[in-house]
Parts: sequence; C-alpha cells; structure tokens
Amino acid sequence: MFVLRNRPPSAGEVTEAVTVRARRIDVHSHFFPALSKEDAAILCSPDAPWLRDNGDGTGFMMSGDHEYRPVEAPLWDPAARLAEMDRTGTTIQVISATPILFSYACAPSIGERWAAKINDMASEMCEIDPVRLRPLSHAPLQDIDAACREVSRAKDNGHVGVHIGNHIDGRNLDDLELVRFLHHCATEDIAVFVHPWNTMAPDRMTKYMLKWLVGMPAETHLAILSLILSGAFERLPRSLKICFAHGGGNFAAQIARVDNAWRRRDIIRTDCPNPPSSYTDRFCVDSAVFDEPALAHLAAVMGTERIMMGSDYPFPLGEEDPGAVIDRAAFLDEPTRDALRFTNADAFFSLNAGGLQ
Ligand code: CO
Repeated sequence: MFVLRNRPPSAGEVTEAVTVRARRIDVHSHFFPALSKEDAAILCSPDAPWLRDNGDGTGFMMSGDHEYRPVEAPLWDPAARLAEMDRTGTTIQVISATPILFSYACAPSIGERWAAKINDMASEMCEIDPVRLRPLSHAPLQDIDAACREVSRAKDNGHVGVHIGNHIDGRNLDDLELVRFLHHCATEDIAVFVHPWNTMAPDRMTKYMLKWLVGMPAETHLAILSLILSGAFERLPRSLKICFAHGGGNFAAQIARVDNAWRRRDIIRTDCPNPPSSYTDRFCVDSAVFDEPALAHLAAVMGTERIMMGSDYPFPLGEEDPGAVIDRAAFLDEPTRDALRFTNADAFFSLNAGGLQ
C-alpha cells in the first residue's frame, strides 16, 4: 500500500501535519526516452527526435540539430518522475511518448523498428516501479499489419494500451486501415489513447502557441466526429476502449451544434444512423479542461463514468496540480471524484490497482 504525501507545507504552516491525498491515476502523462542523437539517426534519420541531457536536471527535446523544447529530468528519468509523483500525490501514471516521437512519416520498415525501440525503452523506464509507472505503446501506423504486430508484442511485455495520433498521413481515424487497427485493439483488449498532433493550418498559427490552443482542440473534435459521422462506431465492436485527450477538445462544447445539423441536413445523416450525441457511450475523455464549469459540462455530455483524470504532465500547458479541478469540484460527491481520479482508469486500462491507496 502506498501512503502518499501532499506537497510539503509552505513556511508558516503546521509542519507536523501530513495530508494523505486521495489516490489518483494520471492517464495523460508524457515521457521521452533518453534516445541519443546517434541512436535516433541510425534508427530513423539525421533529423529524428532525440533527447539532449544537460546533466544538471535540464535538457532539450531535439529534432536533429534543432532545439525543439526545453525539458526537465522527470520527462526521461524515472527516479525523478517518481519523486514528482510523491510530491503531487499521484499513485499511478499511465505514460505515453511525447507526440513528437510519433514519426508516422517514416518509411514503414523504419517505423516498425522505431516503435519497437520506443516501446522497449518505455518498458525499461517503468522497471523502477512497474506498479506505479504503466506504459502505453507506440504503434507504427504507416503500416497497419506492423502496427497490429507491435502493439500485441508490447501488450505481452506489459504495456497497458496504445497511444496514437489523431490523424496519420492526412487520414482521419475513419480511414479504413485505421479502423482495421482499432478493430484489432478491440479484439485484443488493447485500450487506445488518442492525442492530437501535427495540427491543421500551421501557417495561420505561428504565434502565441495557437497550434496548442486552437489546433489541438480542433484536431480532437475532428477525430471524434470522424468516427461518429462515418458510422465507424457502428462497425467497431462495443468492446473497443478508446479515450481522447484534453477532455475531447472542442467536442463537448459543440455537440449540440452537431446534433442540430444531423437533424436538419441529410448529408450529415448519410453514414451516421443515430444522433451524434448517442455515441458518447462509445469513448472516454480525460479531465484536462482546467475549471469546474468546463468539467461539469463535460460530465453532462459524457457522463462521469467516461471521464478519467489526465493532467498532460509534465508540460506547462497541463494541469499543474494533477486532479485539483476534480478535487475541488463541488458538483461531484466523493465516490464520484474517486471514480474520475482512479476507478474509471483502473477499469479502462485493466490495471487491477484497486488495492492501492
Ligand atoms: Co499531451
């Protein structure tokens, strides 16, 4: 059993008091394996992503010689990550590779060995505490047969699901090959976590992090609607477990608009026999929506059984104190807060962590 401390009291607070924070599983947290420039170049290409460790707890995510983003040790160092989890009272993290590592544009032969390397390095990171660190796999979706092979291999090695981009090579998730991959995941009981990446209209979003603020929520909305309006959910087994990041992006805010359009325009009903909002029982979302009114609306659209705590750790656009919005949500009772923070994710990823506190 874990007894996790809340963050240390600040000066002036009673130092003897130790708050035991409610158990929590963070389903949206990223890692970056300590890939060297040489390994990345050999595995993929000279401009492939790799990690520069400055040796002082800081580093850079690199893309070839380009400094992509400054980062800190918990992103790649599992001991530093566990210390942070203790500080924030996070019982378990389900960790997924930073989306810059998707590399779907690589040739299929490269994509498969790249995915295997990322997956094996994720397993190594989690060896330090295989109960509290649970990896999602990377799938080389430029070749669906290879992707199916690799996610099944990763499942055998302890990965608790797969992390995929919301589009691949210009194709949305309703692409027949991608639906075939989702069918494989449903059949093999591999949970799917969908993350936006490589956002639309980049030329119009060059400033103010607009790719993250506008592009990513729009990409996730597009991914969910592509599965609903194409009728893909009609063809996919109900056993498919699929979760979308960032509270499903713009989906919840716009679902009434989509339902209205479905009622009034036959071209929207062509491949989607039921009202779009009726498919919300086919997927989950994380809780990264940042305030109580947004979480309450998300719960009204999705149901509290389909929201799982996700913070986007360790990046600055994530929830700084993982799960704090759930903790403070007055519209939830304590058993429901526990469902959002822990039991929904425990069931979704088949973690069997119910005995942990
Ligand atoms: Co993220």
